[in-house]
Amino acid sequence: MSERTISVGLLGMGTVGRGVYRILKDNQAGIKQKIGATLAVKKILVRDITKDRGVELEEGLLTSDAGEVIDNPGIDIVVEVLGGIDPALKYSLRALEQGKSLVTANKDMIAAHGKELFATARIANRDLLFEASVAGGIPIIRPLKVCLAGNRIRQVVGIINGTTNYMLTRMSKEGLDFQQALSEAQSLGYAEADPSADVEGHDAARKLAILASIAFNTRVSLDQVFVEGITGVAARDIAHASNLNYIVKLLGIAREGKEGVEARVHPALLPKNHPLTSVNDVYNAIFISGDAVGDVMFYGRGAGEMPTASAVVGDVMDAARNILNNVSGMISCTCFEEKQVKPMGLTKTKYYIRLSVADRPGVLAGIAFIFGNNDVSLASVIQHTAGQFAELVLVTHEVFEKNLQKALQSIRELSSVNEICSVIRVEELDEGAAP
Ligand code: NAP
Ligand code: HSE
Repeated sequence: MSERTISVGLLGMGTVGRGVYRILKDNQAGIKQKIGATLAVKKILVRDITKDRGVELEEGLLTSDAGEVIDNPGIDIVVEVLGGIDPALKYSLRALEQGKSLVTANKDMIAAHGKELFATARIANRDLLFEASVAGGIPIIRPLKVCLAGNRIRQVVGIINGTTNYMLTRMSKEGLDFQQALSEAQSLGYAEADPSADVEGHDAARKLAILASIAFNTRVSLDQVFVEGITGVAARDIAHASNLNYIVKLLGIAREGKEGVEARVHPALLPKNHPLTSVNDVYNAIFISGDAVGDVMFYGRGAGEMPTASAVVGDVMDAARNILNNVSGMISCTCFEEKQVKPMGLTKTKYYIRLSVADRPGVLAGIAFIFGNNDVSLASVIQHTAGQFAELVLVTHEVFEKNLQKALQSIRELSSVNEICSVIRVEELDEGAAP
């Protein structure tokens, strides 16, 4: 067995950084057996070197000078777990230029600057690995890039935000409203004080941009992902959906069809018998259909100190193996095609629509007329009396998004319509990708 040591520098020692340090220390012997070298943390960049990190650290390990990590000739692998774009991007590019392999958990940075980072890694002949950037502890980047590489991927559908999945689970199981579920998620430390990135779908959109780019070998940028969060989902919708045999989930959907690639994040009604509906609380899952493999599903913890660190350490070990074997770029950029991203208006789905309307003759006929005029066909209509108004719960057949939006615009102008309370897409997600 080689006595070689591979030196690691951490940029950040927050939640994920601490987990990485713990795993590298606690599992050191096993890691050495597996890669044939010792992984030793040499320097850790933080803002405040006096802060208690909750782990025992050697004197002098912490630094507030980034150069001691990224320009340090004794460091082989840099792990970026700072978060955000600035200074994470600047430091990551410099680390690659200085000949370090780079491991990152930073979805914001990869989704926005993946192209530049990959180009820099290629020129420097170093690895750029980012398994933890999507769905935390769940192995998904490597399975897509390696194990499923022989497939034409038809669709990737994921529950890729734990906070919103926790909230929707609580709304579904306990009948909590949005605010109650959010307060609970915040008190448990799942949701941030500013929860907008989670509840408005932006966190999931960054992860979906990364997944779609890998699945379809084309760069799908963040601004090409349609995003709608869960702020418009009410406990009432979840209850109605349940009566119709559906569960509401925030989904990231990437699909390839004749008109291009679809990439969208939005809440959706899923049939109760779909495997993704059994993914509850903070768990994440990603359901993939490939032409050869059929359907596969990956399930696990999408965040948290140790699950996320588990993915980071897997990448560090891979980078170390490559250094020991004098190779790099084994899992390099696979965006080798230019593909159209389909405009949202051309997407076809079913819709669940909840309306508050005047309870008098002719109202339903007027609404049905507008839908019909816009080529929107109704699959079911249920009416409930709700005080002075009637509540209409409609489900359409598959229609074009642009037709549905046009119809809703006209319906909104009807004096008999008090409010369009909710519009949620219905995804049947047929599992018809059998090999
Ligand atoms: P965090 O707890 O906020 O930790 C950030 C660390 O970076 C802290 O140690 C902080 O130092 C240091 N830092 C930040 N800016 C710095 C700067 N300008 N100079 C020096 N040090 C700086 O973040 P985290 O939760 O570990 O997340 C890290 C990354 O992992 C993010 O990209 C995140 O999206 C990703 N990720 C996190 C999770 C999760 O469950 N937390 C899951 C998946 C992916 P101080 O401690 O001194 O302030
Ligand atoms: N905030 C994210 C979530 C975890 O709730 O899943 C980090 O990506």
